Amino acid sequence: MNIESPEVLISEDDIQARVLELAEKISADHEDSSNLVMIGVLKGSFIFLADLSRRLSIPRTIEFIAVSSYGNGSVSSGAVRLVMDVRSNIEGKHVLIVEDIVDTGHTLKYLISMLKSHRPASVKTAALVRKAESAEVDVTIDYLGFDIGEEWVVGYGLDYGEQHRTLPYIGVVKPSDT
Ligand code: PRP
Repeated sequence: MNIESPEVLISEDDIQARVLELAEKISADHEDSSNLVMIGVLKGSFIFLADLSRRLSIPRTIEFIAVSSYGNGSVSSGAVRLVMDVRSNIEGKHVLIVEDIVDTGHTLKYLISMLKSHRPASVKTAALVRKAESAEVDVTIDYLGFDIGEEWVVGYGLDYGEQHRTLPYIGVVKPSDT
């Protein structure tokens, strides 16, 4: 395994095509809405959020939120802690949570519940990839890019030890090899 060039799992072209499809669906579903707030979950969502938001044909504003979802290393603890909240009032707004990856589902479940307490008009979810076999809690993803397996993925916002976030594609690394 060459850590400098992770093996391609989902190509740049496939990602861009899927992001456009998701953006068209989100735009159609919210065509009567003038107050969509996209909330990117830092750090991993920053590239997906940037591409997705620029392909929408409806008005939207951008917020970020930060949580700490993992314990030590690559093992999810299930505990989620809010590190940075949104800056604007989302009451009465249509919220779209934007995630890079849904693994156990604990983070997204926590965020949906926490954001609903601010009384938005609606809360929907978008995720670029989902590790379906890793799900520990049931959580709805309204706009999903790709289902993947158990591999450790990097690129397009996703990292391994803060490396590879800016790869234009999604690649695979094997932590045991690095
Ligand atoms: C990732 C991802 C989600 C979370 C999903 O973030 O961005 O927020 O893990 O895991 P879960 O479904 O098991 O809760 P990470 O903690 O790696 O932080 P990062 O986005 O800053 O890299």
